[in-house]
Amino acid sequence: MEQSGRHAWVERRRCVAYMVALVMFWSEAAAQIRYSISEEVKEGSVVGNIAKDLGIDKVTLKEREYRIVGTSTEPLFHLNQDDGILYVSRKVDREEICERSNACIINLKTVLENPLEIHYVAIEVLDVNDHSPVFPEKEKRLEIFESTLPGARFQLQTARDPDGSQFSVQQYKLSHNDHFRLEVKERGEDRKMPFLVLQKQLDREAMREHRLLLTAVDGGKPARSGTIEILIEVLDVNDNWPVFTQDVYSAVLNENAPPGTLAIQVNATDLDEGANGEIVYSFGKEVDVNLQKLFYIDSKTGEIKVTGEIDFEENQNYEIDIQASDKGTVPLSTDKTVIIKIIDLNDNAPEIEVTSFSKSVPEDCRTGTTVALISVNDLDSGPNGKVSCFIREAVPFAISPSLQDNMYAIVTKSLLDREEKSFYGLTVVAKDTGEPSLSSEKTIAVVVSDVNDNRPQFSLSPYTFYITENNDLAAPLFSVRASDPDDGDNAHIVYHICSLTGDVLLKR
Ligand SMILES: *[C@@H]1O[C@H](CO)[C@@H](O)[C@H](O)[C@H]1NC(C)=O
Repeated sequence: MEQSGRHAWVERRRCVAYMVALVMFWSEAAAQIRYSISEEVKEGSVVGNIAKDLGIDKVTLKEREYRIVGTSTEPLFHLNQDDGILYVSRKVDREEICERSNACIINLKTVLENPLEIHYVAIEVLDVNDHSPVFPEKEKRLEIFESTLPGARFQLQTARDPDGSQFSVQQYKLSHNDHFRLEVKERGEDRKMPFLVLQKQLDREAMREHRLLLTAVDGGKPARSGTIEILIEVLDVNDNWPVFTQDVYSAVLNENAPPGTLAIQVNATDLDEGANGEIVYSFGKEVDVNLQKLFYIDSKTGEIKVTGEIDFEENQNYEIDIQASDKGTVPLSTDKTVIIKIIDLNDNAPEIEVTSFSKSVPEDCRTGTTVALISVNDLDSGPNGKVSCFIREAVPFAISPSLQDNMYAIVTKSLLDREEKSFYGLTVVAKDTGEPSLSSEKTIAVVVSDVNDNRPQFSLSPYTFYITENNDLAAPLFSVRASDPDDGDNAHIVYHICSLTGDVLLKR
C-alpha cells in the first residue's frame, strides 16, 4: 500500500467516520478525536489536524505546550506544535500492536496547559493485507496404501494469516490432479480446515509418488497466498501377479545330456515392491514324479536343469508345468508350461532280425529268388535311424528292399552252381547314417541244394583196350569208370553195355 500519508488520510475519511467529542473531567476540558490510519503507512504520514479538529488556534500550541502524554520511548506518533498536525513517527504494524482483535485502536492522551485540557485521540489502525498465509511446514508427507478406497479423507495443515478478518485465509486450492479433491470444513468463524479426499484409487505400480500443491488464499485485493507441497507416497499392496517375460518357453536338449546341464531359464517379474514382488519358481503341483526326477527348477534363478537320464527313445518331448509365486502374505502365482524337445543322438545301433529263412536253395533257381527275409530296426530317428544294408562278401546274392519299411529280402543275383559252390556264408551289414554312424552284422548261411544237372562222364571215351587171347574167363577184361559231380542219387551211376543198336546186353 504505497500511498502518501495525506492521501491515505483523505481516502479513509470517506470510509471511516471520525468524531470529536468533548468530555469534561473535573475542571479538565477533555475532547475525544477519532482517527484512522492504515497500518504500514510511511513514516511522516499525516494522521490528522488535531488543532483544527479541536478548534484551537495553532499559534497558541507552543505556548500551551501541547503534547502527547505517554511513556513509550519510541512513540508511534508525534505532534507538531507548529501546525497542530499529528504525524506517524514510525512504521505501524497492526498485527504487532493488536494481534488479531477485530478493531485495533490506539488511544493517545494529549495535554494542553493554561488552562489544562486533556484530549483523547483514538486512532484506529486499519488492517492492510500485509501478510501472506503461511503453512507451518513447506512440505507435508502422507503415506497412503494403494488399496485405499475412494472417499478416504486425510486432514491437511491449515495456513495462518495474521491479518484480520477478510484479509485472513479465505480459501484453499489444490493443484490439478486425477486422484484427489479438496474439501474444506468450516470450524467456527475464522477457521477453515482443508482435507484431501481420495477420488480415484491409487496404483503404486503406475505412480509411486504424487506431488500436490495446496494453496491458501487470503481475501485481499490483490490476494496473497501461501503454499505447502503435499507429497503422497503410495504404499504397496500385493496386487500384481508375477508375469513371465516370455509367452512361450521352449528349448531343445540333447538326449544323454549329463546332470547339471541347463535346459532353459525362465524369468518372471512382479511389479509389486519388496516381498510382494519377490519371485519363487517351482514345479506345478500336478507335475509327475518321474518328470521331477529328470529335471530340477532353481527356485531363485528359474533355471531348469537336468538331473536324470534323458532318453530320446523314451520321450521326445517334455512339457513341464511350472509356476512363479511372489512372497506376499497372500502370495499370488502364475502358471506356465515349458516345452523341452529332446534331440536324438545316434546312441542306438541298427538291429538285424532274420524273419524267415530257407534252409537251402536249389542250384537251378531263377535269379531273384528269395533266400531270406530280414528286418532291420534302429531306435534312433532321422539320419540316426536311417539304415542301409549290404552284404559284405562278393557272392551271388543281393539285398533288395521290400515294400514294407525296414524289411529286406536276400535274393540271388546270378545263377548258382552247387557243383561249383555249395555253401555261402553271407555277412549282412546294417549301417545307419548317423554321425558317427553305428552298424551291426548278421551272418547267414546259405546251402545250395543239388539238382541233377550233370551227366555221368566216363573217364575215357572212347575206351580202347586189348584182350589177350586165351584169357581167363574168370578174370575181368577191363573196367570202365564214369563219374557224376551231382550229389546223392543224382550222382549214383548205373552201368549198362548196349549193342550198337542200343539193346542192353549187360547190366551191372
Ligand atoms: C528377467 O527379466 C527382467 C525384465 O526383462 C530383466 O531385467 C532381468 O534381468 C531378467 N532376469 C534374468 C535372470 O534373466
